[in-house]
Amino acid sequence: MTERERSLILRLARERRLSEAEYAELIANRDPEAAQLLAELASAARRAVFGEAVYTRGLIELSSICRNNCLYCGIRRDNRLAERYRLTAEEILSCADEGYGLGFRTFVLQGGEDMYFTDEVLCGIVKALKARHPDCAVTLSMGERSRESYRALYDAGADRYLLRHETADSAHYARLHPAEMSFENRMRCLADLRDTGYQVGCGFMVGSPYQTPEILARDLAFIEGFRPAMCGIGPFIPHRNTPFRSEPAGTLELTLFLLSVLRLILPEALLPATTALGTIHPSGRELGILAGANVVMPNLSPVGVRKKYELYDNKICTGEESAQCRGCLEQRMAAIGCHLAVDRGDAPNWTRR
Ligand code: SAM
Ligand code: FES
Repeated sequence: MTERERSLILRLARERRLSEAEYAELIANRDPEAAQLLAELASAARRAVFGEAVYTRGLIELSSICRNNCLYCGIRRDNRLAERYRLTAEEILSCADEGYGLGFRTFVLQGGEDMYFTDEVLCGIVKALKARHPDCAVTLSMGERSRESYRALYDAGADRYLLRHETADSAHYARLHPAEMSFENRMRCLADLRDTGYQVGCGFMVGSPYQTPEILARDLAFIEGFRPAMCGIGPFIPHRNTPFRSEPAGTLELTLFLLSVLRLILPEALLPATTALGTIHPSGRELGILAGANVVMPNLSPVGVRKKYELYDNKICTGEESAQCRGCLEQRMAAIGCHLAVDRGDAPNWTRR
């Protein structure tokens, strides 16, 4: 690490921001020494806000049916080999009941853009979930919808919404998505979610095809300005039945580096150590926490459907029961001196409605 890199990192830790050109420089010139310094500063920043608590969110994967055709995604519409399923409202509620018993106080309902989940259907599910578990937060991750839809779901009780921006560079966005999807609409959705009152999560894949340090710098500058409550980043992993099947996966090293940078930009953010990170390395999630992340999202979906929600190859936790997954993560976190928190884990300073 040069003196220049060290001074950029120390300034980032102090001022919580760099210019876009400086982010690009930091990424392009990174080395293990810089990564180590960033991880130490990021861990200290995480501990100062959250102590040793790691928040958990129980992930329920509602549907593998999707109208979209993102070039990277295993459940894209054109993947004729994908196995499709859709959970019933009863199945979703029973996954949540089981999760509640295991100590989860946030449920993330995620799925492909399955048109079955109209506002009426999804609002019904959110209301029923909140009625059964009023002390729990509901996070939705159901893709791009209208402003009115986001409002209706918020009024039904949804607290948070995850919609990765995927890339903050519109030309890069166009290379990852079919022409019918647009960067402008993605940004419109994020603005609408923010206006509606949600705790909003954005994020991107690390190592997606055509990504450069300059594009990552743009992502960081976007996140610095948008100030999301949550930010999900994980490595891109190719799926054998997508146009990106032969592209290399994102690396552990760059993902950890960026998690540390993000923690310094947003000390109070909820940053997951993702399943994708656990997929590319057996200790990926633990290393993610040590680099600055503070959230894990074990799977609560019925075991019978887990393999079918296959966004990328070799996804972990597809054969485990929910209790096993929770227990496994409890042990993994204990091994690095952390514990799983049993509470909603709202963004600090968030005023509840
Ligand atoms: N349909 C919702 C949406 O678009 O936000 C939620 C499901 S979508 C599959 C969730 C996230 O998975 C995407 O935002 C994307 O970043 C990630 N993802 C998709 N394919 C991936 C891949 N091959 N490797 C890593 N992450 C992937
Ligand atoms: Fe699912 Fe380890 S977290 S089995």
